[in-house]
Amino acid sequence: MKILFLNGPNLNLLGQREPEVYGRTTLAGIEAKVRERAAQLGADIDFRQSNLEGELVDWIQQARGKFDVIVINAAAYTHTSIALRDAIAAVGVPTIEIHLSNVHAREKFRQKSLIAPVCCGQIIGFGSKSYILAVEASVHVKECNKLR
Ligand code: DQA
Repeated sequence: MKILFLNGPNLNLLGQREPEVYGRTTLAGIEAKVRERAAQLGADIDFRQSNLEGELVDWIQQARGKFDVIVINAAAYTHTSIALRDAIAAVGVPTIEIHLSNVHAREKFRQKSLIAPVCCGQIIGFGSKSYILAVEASVHVKECNKLR
């Protein structure tokens, strides 16, 4: 099981960025926890972050045939990016959308996800634990494509 974790814009600032919303764990800290859980479950992890929409699109395209699952925290691009949505739909790699915060309890513009309809499901609002739950969902939930 190979899982590609993609992180969108500003997530490189976790730990110092609005800690009351996103917590005090850095992205490197989250990656370490993800790797620990993945190792327990026998999964291989690639963990990346970019502030650039096109780079995220490239990585999604390149995932075909190389990864079993994509886990994506698209950050602000969640709410704006038709390009990310089209890339996820095009490659057909089962994809799980995650967020640290409960986007539905926040501003109206965060309550719409353009990528949700092409993802297997969402894990939202559990802080850095959203990432750990996504590792567990990737390994244990085989029905992703059928349920879509
Ligand atoms: C976020 C939620 C987004 O609305 C926001 O733009 C982010 C982080 C989250 O993980 O809670 O950058 O994706």
